[in-house]
Amino acid sequence: MAVSLIITGFMGSGKTTVARELAGSLGWRFRDADDEAERRMGMTIREAFERIGEKGFREVEEEVVMGLLDEPAQQSEGTVIALGGGAVTSDRIRRRLADEPLVIFIDVDVDTAYDRAADGTRPLAADRQQFEQLFRQRQELYRSVAARVVESRGLDVNALGERIREIVEEGDVDNP
Ligand code: S3P
Repeated sequence: MAVSLIITGFMGSGKTTVARELAGSLGWRFRDADDEAERRMGMTIREAFERIGEKGFREVEEEVVMGLLDEPAQQSEGTVIALGGGAVTSDRIRRRLADEPLVIFIDVDVDTAYDRAADGTRPLAADRQQFEQLFRQRQELYRSVAARVVESRGLDVNALGERIREIVEEGDVDNP
């Protein structure tokens, strides 16, 4: 059965960029939960927050992520999955992630995260104070699902990808 490498972390931690890069270098498939959710909804996440609210978006996100986590079982090659930053707020997703050996939390500092995330596409990055509060609240959730934490400070995307690749190749990650 093929494995999944699951990348989690706050908005602006570089999950999507690193996951795409890793998939390329490992020769694995790449899946981005936000992209899949937008495709499923037929609208952007920003539009979804306006039209169906955050709750509506979370319901779609939960279904999409559960589906992505089950996909590799039918594949022969590995998959790198970038989760949306809020996926860990779902109990169902957190319980499912507990079965996965390769969940990597990219730990980022809040200033870097905000600089990257406040690009107008993320409804929860519109207000800095709210962003920082959410950042603090989420830390425990990311740590609770992560098999390994990768500190991203000082690492560019290539170095970060390299660090995660080493972890995968060491093969010494465990369920939390
Ligand atoms: C969110 C993170 C976003 C996206 C949505 C909500 C969050 O994904 O799913 O805007 O609640 O943290 P990224 O972490 O990929 O930006």
